[in-house]
Amino acid sequence: MKAITIASLKNMKLTGEKIACLTAYDASFAALLEDAGVEVLLVGDSLGMVIQGQLTTLPVTMDAMVYHTSCVARAIRRSLLIADLPFLSYFSIERSLENAGRLMAAGASMVKLEGCNTEIIEIIKNLSKWGIPVCAHLGLLPQSVFKLGGYRVQGRESEQAAALIENAQSLEAAGAELLVLECIPVNLAQQITKLVTIPTIGIGAGAYCDGQVLVLYDMLGISLGKRPRFIRDFMVGNNSIREAITTFVRDVKSGVFPELDHSYI
Ligand code: KIV
Repeated sequence: MKAITIASLKNMKLTGEKIACLTAYDASFAALLEDAGVEVLLVGDSLGMVIQGQLTTLPVTMDAMVYHTSCVARAIRRSLLIADLPFLSYFSIERSLENAGRLMAAGASMVKLEGCNTEIIEIIKNLSKWGIPVCAHLGLLPQSVFKLGGYRVQGRESEQAAALIENAQSLEAAGAELLVLECIPVNLAQQITKLVTIPTIGIGAGAYCDGQVLVLYDMLGISLGKRPRFIRDFMVGNNSIREAITTFVRDVKSGVFPELDHSYI
């Protein structure tokens, strides 16, 4: 079983094979996801909401991220493991290096951070310089939910869309090797995916991204609260969690998921 690397993901973009990604927070689910063929596992700070019962991702600590990253890392051999840098854990060059280093030491192969500004560009350049691969994240940024005024679709206005395109290109130029696009219109995600050479992984960003990610508990239909339109409950029509995850991988690869109904215009 060959390990998934950043080079494999870039190759998948080139050949048009879709990348399947799900969040994971513990060893048992991680092993199951890897076994079902999920190429990328993300220890997301969404764990604040789905594991800890917080209202947002903001209270998630570095210690919690390190703990869950090490739980997932112990269970997998093949999938690529990304871990989120949580809220305010990357507010300076020094702090981002120290905290990204903790996640890599816990078993991550890449760290993810949200947004794009001049500081973040310098942070990505510095992390790359020290050998730490970075996944960037644009569109709806859960760590900025109060600044954004809620969990809303981003990039619908032309000015905002143009800024997102420019940011995606700047993040790639700074050294980001993967880009999560969250809750943006399908055409904008398609445009960004064409303009950058790094793979894009969409969540609520339509079918034209190079891959798809969902929060595991959302796609198993067990998250609390209102379900946003981009989520499909994969337990419907399947008899086990293993079957639901296998269906997710199959439907991402074949382009059956996401449908237009799961996307924003
Ligand atoms: O924290 C998380 O689970 C994420 C995904 C929603 C992409 O960042």
